[in-house]
This record gives sequence, structure tokens and C-alpha cells, in this order.
Amino acid sequence: MSSGTGLKGVVLDESRICLIDGDAGKLVYRGYNIHDLAQHASFEEVAYLLLYGKLPKRDELRAFEGALKSARHIPESVIEIMERVKAAHPMDILRTAVSAAVALDENSHEATVEVGLPAGIKLISQVATIVATMHRQRLGLDPVAPRDDLSHAANFLYMMFGKEPSREDAKIIDLDLVLHAEHSSNASTFAARVAAGTAADLGSAIVAAIATLKGPLHGGAAEAVQKTVEEIGDPDKAVEYIREKIEAGEKVMGFGHRVYKTDDPRALELRGVARDLGHKMGNDRWFQVLQQIEKAMEPYRAKGIYPNVDFYAGAVYSLLGIPDEQFIPMFAVGRMPGWIANVLEQYEDNVLIRPLLEYTGPRHLKYVPIDDR
Ligand SMILES: CC(C)(COP(=O)(O)OP(=O)(O)OC[C@H]1O[C@@H](n2cnc3c(N)ncnc32)[C@H](O)[C@@H]1OP(=O)(O)O)[C@@H](O)C(=O)NCCC(=O)NCCS
Repeated sequence: MSSGTGLKGVVLDESRICLIDGDAGKLVYRGYNIHDLAQHASFEEVAYLLLYGKLPKRDELRAFEGALKSARHIPESVIEIMERVKAAHPMDILRTAVSAAVALDENSHEATVEVGLPAGIKLISQVATIVATMHRQRLGLDPVAPRDDLSHAANFLYMMFGKEPSREDAKIIDLDLVLHAEHSSNASTFAARVAAGTAADLGSAIVAAIATLKGPLHGGAAEAVQKTVEEIGDPDKAVEYIREKIEAGEKVMGFGHRVYKTDDPRALELRGVARDLGHKMGNDRWFQVLQQIEKAMEPYRAKGIYPNVDFYAGAVYSLLGIPDEQFIPMFAVGRMPGWIANVLEQYEDNVLIRPLLEYTGPRHLKYVPIDDR
């Protein structure tokens, strides 16, 4: 069977949410350049921008933040279900918990913008609580109830670690969530739009997205990068390690992208964060290893292979004490507004998404009774 084209270069539909210019290394949410948003906007502002199509005024932002804060608690029955499956892969736990949360939310089951928007706002908060709860359950610790006096990022770290984070750490997670918030028709968003296209409710579309994010070619790269960094250990060994990997025909995780054929602007944002945070924490080694890997990969820039968002994200998470296994769930926490905005856009002018497969199998076989096979 052919490996297919993976719909490479195929334009699925029109969208007003996100522009990626892969040749220029440009990412734009609703008209605003990601570097501008990274410098000035909070995750809450960016989530509002993605969902409503415009930056919020002060009172609109306050109301939106209030809606997010009031949705931070998850039902006790969801916590119980999570406890039962806590030994599973974190993305399986996340998928199961979100599925349970939406099944229990009777007000979320209609595939319309009117129902999907408030259901989505609620889920942005609940997914953060679910990820923090899962982290603690896996450590055998009690979940920490959310606080309503903290930002989304600060509250997330508070629920993870049971202690209020520093302003600097909360700012880093806020930036990370902004950088992950939306990325056009990536695999998980495509999956969400396919589900929405059948007129399935928003919760079902988000579950489809979470299931799709699980794979190592999409959400799993940051974890793989951090494993590589720890395996290499010594910056002086990085070049040799990468040479061996390439010679063995293996892909180097955290490099390459279906759309970007130059610097991924999100990686540029996270590079400085990884460097400064490593320095502050007395761990310059991981950043040095990453730098050496980048150096070893320089010849492949001519082929359009550059570091992607996952390349520095793993080091940043690890330095903040977030374990490898929570990297993909972290990605989901950030991507929620993008998934929701795409589902709502799909509902606005819905069409069933149903491509064709070119059949290459036999056509004229005759049924053979079971004893004659
Ligand atoms: C993301 C990814 C799936 C994009 O793949 P794609 O658009 O289908 O590109 P291809 O896999 O067809 O790669 C094109 C060429 O670049 C090479 N290449 C792509 N990514 C590479 C990597 N990370 N390391 C080494 N070579 C790579 C391929 O081997 C291929 O070479 P060839 O033309 O000699 O066969 C791919 O780059 C990858 O697997 N990267 C590692 C995983 C990762 O970091 N994912 C996170 C993405 S945000």
C-alpha cells in the first residue's frame, strides 16, 4: 500500500482564524502576529481573540475571565473515573475525563455555535483542572481545588504543585499556552473539524482532537526531545549522537514541520525562555545540548528542516518541574481555544467532510465457503 500524500498541500476550506506562512515562518491569529501576541497578550486575551474574532475590551475580558474561573471545578464523578484509570497513558486519561465531563454536561450536546461557545469556554477551564488532577493522582496525591483569584496559567501551576507559582513561572506557562493556542488545520484540529462536520457536539469534537494529538508525530515530540537531551547528557556528545541517528534513517524529534520550511516562530520564542530559565535554575546543560543538536542539524536547513515548537518546549516544562508524561496533556491545555474556534467556525457554515480513497484492491473475487478456504 502506498504511504499516500497525507493530504499534503490540500486546502480543506476557507478560515478566518489562523494564517501560517510556512516559507516566511509567520504565524498569525485572527490578524495578529504571534510575536506581538507573545509579547503583549495573556492566554485569556488570546483565547477570547480566537473564539470571538477580536481582541476584548477591558470589560469583555473581565467577563470572559470570570466565565473561565467559574468553570474551573470538575464534577466529583469525573475525578472518580480518573482515579480508576490513573495508571493509563496520560492522554488516555485526559480523553476519558473530557468524555465523561461532556457526557455529564446536559447543556452541551447541541452542535450549534450558541451551545458550543459556552460549552467550549467551560472546557478550556476543565481541561486544565483535569490535567493537574491527573498529575496529582498519578503521584498518589489529593487533587488541589482550583482558585478563582489566579490567572489560567497561575491557577494551572497552583493545581499541579499545590503552591502558588512565582509571577515569572506563571508568565512562562502563559506564554507557552499562547504559543500553542492555535495552528490551523493540524492533525488534531482537522479531526475536530471532521467530527464537527458530522454535526457532532463540541465535546465529541474535542475528544476526537485529543485522541489525534496523542500520536508521537503530532503531540508527542516534546517528550521525545527531552528524552533525547537527557540521553545525550553531555553537549560534546550531541553532534555524534545526531549523526548516528540520521545515518540510521531516523528522524530527529523536534525538527521538521509539514508547513514551516524555515524557523517556526514559536520555537524562536521558546529558545530564549529555555536559555534564561535554565540559567536561572542552575541548569545550562540542557540548553547547551539543544544548541549542539541544532548545530548538528544545520546542514538540513537547506531541506527546510528547522526546529519546531516542541524542540524547546520540553526543556522549559522540565525546568518548571512538569514531568515528561504531562507534555502532551500540556499541549492540549494550550490548544483548547484553537480547537474550539475551529469547531465553531465549522458549525457556522457546516459541510460534511468526507474525502475519497482510491481503491487499489481486488474487484472480482467470488465468495468461498469457510471450509473451502
Ligand atoms: C513533522 C513531520 C511529521 C513533518 O513531516 P512531513 O511534512 O511529512 O515531511 P517528511 O516526513 O515527508 O520529510 C521530508 C524530508 O525531510 C526529512 N525529515 C523531516 N523531518 C525530519 C527530522 N525530524 N529529522 C530528520 N529528517 C527529517 C525526511 O526524512 C524527508 O527526507 P527525504 O525527502 O530524504 O525522504 C516530520 O518532520 C517529523 O516526523 N518530525 C519529527 C517529529 C516532530 O518533531 N513532530 C512535531 C511537529 S510540530
